[in-house]
Amino acid sequence: MNIINARLRKREGLFTLVLQDGKINQITGQAASRKAGPDELDAEGGLAIAPLVEPHIHLDATLTAGEPAWNMSGTLFEGIERWGQRKATITHEDTKRRALATIGMLRDHGIQHVRTHVDVTDPSLAALRALLEVKQESRHLLDLQIVAFPQEGIESFPNGRALMTQAIELGADVVGGIPHFENTRDQGVSSVKFLMELAERTGCLVDVHCDETDDPQSRFLEVLAEEARVRDMGARVTASHTVAMGSYDNAYCYKLFRLLRQSGINFVSCPTESIHLQGRFDSWPKRRGVTRVAELDQAGMNVCFGQDSIKDPWYPLGNGNILRVLDAGLHICHMMGYDTLQRSLDFVTDNSARALNLGERYGLAPGRPANVVILDAENDYDAVCHQAKARISIRHGQVIMRRRPEQLEYPQA
Ligand code: FE2
Repeated sequence: MNIINARLRKREGLFTLVLQDGKINQITGQAASRKAGPDELDAEGGLAIAPLVEPHIHLDATLTAGEPAWNMSGTLFEGIERWGQRKATITHEDTKRRALATIGMLRDHGIQHVRTHVDVTDPSLAALRALLEVKQESRHLLDLQIVAFPQEGIESFPNGRALMTQAIELGADVVGGIPHFENTRDQGVSSVKFLMELAERTGCLVDVHCDETDDPQSRFLEVLAEEARVRDMGARVTASHTVAMGSYDNAYCYKLFRLLRQSGINFVSCPTESIHLQGRFDSWPKRRGVTRVAELDQAGMNVCFGQDSIKDPWYPLGNGNILRVLDAGLHICHMMGYDTLQRSLDFVTDNSARALNLGERYGLAPGRPANVVILDAENDYDAVCHQAKARISIRHGQVIMRRRPEQLEYPQA
């Protein structure tokens, strides 16, 4: 199949993408727009991009908002209480049904690569077992990485270390952590050392919920970065949230950035979730409770945006559209300079793919998988400005989603 009349990011003109045997065979420029022949798909001047990426979501919790009761205060703490009520009724089929429904929402927005955290602070590892099945059953729609996520801690939860080890043995791809939630600073540090050792031994990637608190004394990012530096694992390590960095003073951050650069670790920010959950202990002025995304980016570090939640006890909104999160993130993180807007899709495509270590499995280039999304936009700026929708999603050379563009009518005109 050929995709014709496509625009490409950061390039002028129209292009033809030749797809063959599930791979991109070649990409050539067109002198002018032309009509589609047989076995050709007309992009109609839309922007062909590598699929959008969701680098941070909790598929085991999605679509549970309001069950059995709504989070009325909107706080993290009432969310934990509501989740505790919902958790009591969870079954294997329930987890699978909600995860697959959410994957359908992600598919509809052109997402084909997802990293989900799954709570493994459960002696039965029920959610993990369900998600491992979901991973297989949704392979035709997207690639799923599963993080063994110790929601209630590694050191401060009974058998936490054994559960993490067992989760990796069962097939989780990524080692998680939550050092700021451990009972003591020492436990937080030892949890990071433990999880890095586990990842190094098993060859797994790392993605830690790190310093997801407005507490400026929460400083586990330096521990994670130093462990990654010493073990030379930075490219395989991601620090998620790091919202305490939004409360660190500049003197500490100046020193921290030197280490972060040396470590080469990746960052995920979830701006809609963080702006909603953080800042809750402030009166006015209120902190944003978001990490220093623009500063990390400007310092040459890899940073991307994720959704975190879709309709769960902590965050009642969300529809799977990562471009909505990009829009919010650009606002919240002071990233609307024209030069940033022109490359804004980096934060939901290439940067995210790098954090997920997708390597040659990702990108529009000959020899890479024929995974292409056509956005209703001419370029990055246009995509954000008009809140573009994914019009067509192609995976392994096959169309898996096609959206009919909306049509407006003006009867009085
Ligand atoms: Fe999270």
